[in-house]
Amino acid sequence: MNGSAKKVGIIGAGKIGGSLLVRLADSGLYELAVSDVHAERLEEYADGYGIRAVGSNAELAEDSELIVVAVKPWDVGTVLKEIYPVVEDTQKAVTSVAAGVPISAIEKGLPPGTAVLRVMPNVCASVGLGSAVITANETGKKMLPVVKDIFGHVGDVIELPERLFDAATALHGSGPAYVALFADALVQAGVREGIPRDVARRLVNETIQGTAVLLKERSPHQVRDEVMTPGGTTAAAFVAMEKAGFVGAIYDGISAATEQARSLGEQ
Ligand SMILES: NC(=O)c1ccc[n+]([C@@H]2O[C@H](COP(=O)([O-])OP(=O)(O)OC[C@H]3O[C@@H](n4cnc5c(N)ncnc54)[C@H](OP(=O)(O)O)[C@@H]3O)[C@@H](O)[C@H]2O)c1
Repeated sequence: MNGSAKKVGIIGAGKIGGSLLVRLADSGLYELAVSDVHAERLEEYADGYGIRAVGSNAELAEDSELIVVAVKPWDVGTVLKEIYPVVEDTQKAVTSVAAGVPISAIEKGLPPGTAVLRVMPNVCASVGLGSAVITANETGKKMLPVVKDIFGHVGDVIELPERLFDAATALHGSGPAYVALFADALVQAGVREGIPRDVARRLVNETIQGTAVLLKERSPHQVRDEVMTPGGTTAAAFVAMEKAGFVGAIYDGISAATEQARSLGEQ
């Protein structure tokens, strides 16, 4: 592969694969193809974005320089079996976004020497504000800039050693769900205090959005200190939240998710 792959095939037109397809199509920089076990899902991309819908994963791999495997972790093995003969004796590169599946497992399912990259994105990719970590095997290293560019269309991409991928999966891969849980808890708490639900939701959404912008400029501690007047309401809330184990619960949650990502790789 020449390091400027423009023919990109995506296997799995789900949440991650679909987000990537839409943004890459908008960029007009790539020749895109997509395959999925659900033919009806492909029509949306063919009709809406002019993306080539392909009947089989092998056929998709045949026509792609870079193949992105965007199926659930337990479906990766089947997909690799299907594309193996097409990838053999070529310069095609394979990128997986599957949580927990290590490069070593992907290499085992592909011809020796295949360029393999691993990316862990998150669902914020669907609004172009995703964050992703990326790594590659030795052969795949020359493809890192190309694949970074591709995922750069859906958000921020950071190189990270593979040993930290399970923790990153727990942190930012699952992250949007934690923020949504926190948002929901805040809305319910506001409702409990008598604020109309739609008003509470609006206040919470804007607070999260504004805080995200502040956090780009300042550390979490700075933002906390700016809000927390000595003897004030925020300080009272912090004491109560801490007594209920708020921070401890977050450590435990990330630890459980990291362990779960690890166990997915062992299946
Ligand atoms: N969603 C997230 O927030 C997130 C974040 C980071 C990483 N990831 C990773 O990204 C990958 C995709 O996740 P997702 O949430 O986008 O999944 P998804 O929405 O379920 O999309 C996967 C798509 O691939 C299809 N598929 C299954 N087996 C296939 C096969 N053999 N050939 C072609 N298509 C096949 C699925 O069909 P069925 O529905 O019938 O299975 C589905 O349409 C996962 O490995 C996940 O770990 C997801």
